[in-house]
Amino acid sequence: MVLLKNGHVVDPTNNINKKIDILIDSGKIVKLEENIDPPPKTQVIDASEKIICPSFTDIHVHFRDPGQTYKEDIYTGSKAAVAGGYTTVVCMPNTLPALDEPSLIRYIIEKGEEVGLCRVLPSAAVTKGRKGKELTEMSLLKDAGAVYFTDDGSPVMDAHIMRKAMEYAGSIGSFVADHCEDLNLSKDGVAHEGEIAAALGLPPLPPEAEDTMVARDCILSMHTGMPVHICHLSTKVGVEIITWAKAMGAKVTAEVTPHHIYLTDEEWLDFDCKAKVSPPLREHEDIEALRWALASGIIDIVATDHAPHAHQEKMQEHHHCPPGMIGLQFALPIVLELVRKDYFDMNRLVEVMSVNPAKKIGLKPPQIKEGELAELTVFDPSESWEVNEEVIQSKSKNTPLMGRKLIGKVKYTFFNGKIVYRD
Ligand code: NCD
Ligand code: ZN
Ligand code: ZN
Repeated sequence: MVLLKNGHVVDPTNNINKKIDILIDSGKIVKLEENIDPPPKTQVIDASEKIICPSFTDIHVHFRDPGQTYKEDIYTGSKAAVAGGYTTVVCMPNTLPALDEPSLIRYIIEKGEEVGLCRVLPSAAVTKGRKGKELTEMSLLKDAGAVYFTDDGSPVMDAHIMRKAMEYAGSIGSFVADHCEDLNLSKDGVAHEGEIAAALGLPPLPPEAEDTMVARDCILSMHTGMPVHICHLSTKVGVEIITWAKAMGAKVTAEVTPHHIYLTDEEWLDFDCKAKVSPPLREHEDIEALRWALASGIIDIVATDHAPHAHQEKMQEHHHCPPGMIGLQFALPIVLELVRKDYFDMNRLVEVMSVNPAKKIGLKPPQIKEGELAELTVFDPSESWEVNEEVIQSKSKNTPLMGRKLIGKVKYTFFNGKIVYRD
């Protein structure tokens, strides 16, 4: 038996937000009470000053298997996930080959189960080979276990294909998630179009490349009545568009990444391509709009877009450097920063990192409730730690946060009733 003693439990699904002990027997939560005395032969975990919540779900990660496992694989990706407090992740299909066949979908699920640290679920490509031309066999892919459809890494540029994809995915009870970028507008842009890109002479990426596609997707969703999910929303105008679309009754949901609510294009000032990511890091005003949108419910979900790349790839000059940064271990401290700054409370943190993302992919969110298998995260909201190569569990270390201090540390992650991570 395991007894989590003196922790502050936050579970919005069960309306819990108080200090309460949790007794776990054979993986199951058997008792939830104040001041439980440890039965004989019980492992007691002192959780005083810690928060205990249902563990997190990340609906947007790149684990690079198959094809680019020198960047990440399902084992190292899973290790990074549980170290970040996550027990469910959804892998993106921009692998080599792209996840556009049922056998590839099954491959990810089997490999994830073999590793066994957390629930690794695949999303499938919208179009064959992610080429934007021909729809995949969505129904077969869903039956094989794909939890949604996306060509992430690329947008679905053709509006007609996107409309058909939304209709088809919606009709089988699934949805399309779009990487919103008009490639004709973004061209070979590298950094957000603004003073910094201009000063540094970096090819600019105008925010309207994203905004026009967000608007298009919202309008298609409104007219078809089908759901659409906006990946990694990064602009203040995007927030306005989604506010409008939701008010019009469109079935639109949106996610934001930790880096887009924490870092700006000033990260480019040391000329480091670690700052290169798609969509690009934007300006203070965008960050502020995204934070309030997350607080108000206009943005539903935090997703990391964990995008590992090898050191030698990120060292290339800005045109050749692939966009992306890792994120699984930094999400909690970054979102906690917003709790500390009073954008929203701990309950909302659990909603956007655990409850909403799980529901979005059709899972019952993990719950801290008698009778449930323990699937929870214990974290210290005030422990400060330094981002360095040793703490990063991911195979790749590409992050502009290297060397910085973050506040908030995962101490234990439970999955399937077992401890899968211990700090
Ligand atoms: C992602 C990747 O590396 O696969 N990169 C990124 O900058 N976000 C692709 C993507 O999410 O669009
Ligand atoms: Zn993307
Ligand atoms: Zn992505």
